[in-house]
Amino acid sequence: MSSDDEVRDVQRATWAGLSAGWEKWDSVIMDQLGPVGTAIIDLLDIADDQQHLDIASGTGEPGLTIARHAPRGHVVLTDLAPEMLDIATRRANARGITNFETQVCSADDLPFGDATFDSVSVRFGYMFIPDVAKATAEFARVLKPGGRLCSSVWIKPEENPWTSIAMEAIASEVVLAPPDPEGPNMYRCAALGYVSALYDAAGLRDIAECEVDVVLVTRTPEQYWEMISEHVSLAVAALEHVDEPTRERIAKYVIARVSAYEVGGEVRIPGVARCIVGTK
Ligand SMILES: C[S@@+](CC[C@H](N)C(=O)[O-])C[C@H]1O[C@@H](n2cnc3c(N)ncnc32)[C@H](O)[C@@H]1O
Repeated sequence: MSSDDEVRDVQRATWAGLSAGWEKWDSVIMDQLGPVGTAIIDLLDIADDQQHLDIASGTGEPGLTIARHAPRGHVVLTDLAPEMLDIATRRANARGITNFETQVCSADDLPFGDATFDSVSVRFGYMFIPDVAKATAEFARVLKPGGRLCSSVWIKPEENPWTSIAMEAIASEVVLAPPDPEGPNMYRCAALGYVSALYDAAGLRDIAECEVDVVLVTRTPEQYWEMISEHVSLAVAALEHVDEPTRERIAKYVIARVSAYEVGGEVRIPGVARCIVGTK
């Protein structure tokens, strides 16, 4: 088995395991990531008959919102994990969205013909794809000439306390292996120009990057810790073999740190993402 196959197998299993957390915390996660979806939609300039491909759709965003913007168009939601796409279908059904389909596939091996789509989105998926250059060539291949690709990635941990607070607390109790710079991890694509260089190598033009602010809002510090420890890939993996007393010490540390972000009866923790757009 190639190492890329192993990465895909681990990712498939990881996201199958995280899917319940993503469904449970859907409204909190979607409120946090909403501004990034809005930025992607603005940068893609969606027409009402858009044929759109959403990569690593997970529970369906931004693909389902794009389907709403394109009532005469069609959206294909794709992901490696069928459990995540099942949630996307439930979310679509709850919202009465019908102009979409789901397809289980890996981003670097797309089962679509050349020049099929007007646009492609990848919200917080790039960092988990084993061969990002091959995947970007696939995105370019399935775009029609003049079509646009827009993706988002997290920029460095220091600018994303919504995740780094939890990871620092875990690291105070657990020895964490440094992330493999070429392996899947949340900040793998963080460097300015990293994704732009992939777009450029795939032959895209008019490439631009912009930053988008997000805020994670929870009712209490305790709720913050509960949701982070149930859906953030880095945190869930790090906590896998942690015993209950250690978990309780980590929770206490996190809750004390997060209290500094309490404003007007809620917790508001900031973060920053980068959106990258290019045209075929
Ligand atoms: C952080 S979630 C993003 C979900 C959604 N786009 C959003 O922004 O809410 C990352 C998704 O990438 C998917 N994924 C991981 N590796 C993948 C691959 N090689 N090809 C396609 N999807 C992949 C996971 O299954 C997961 O659903």
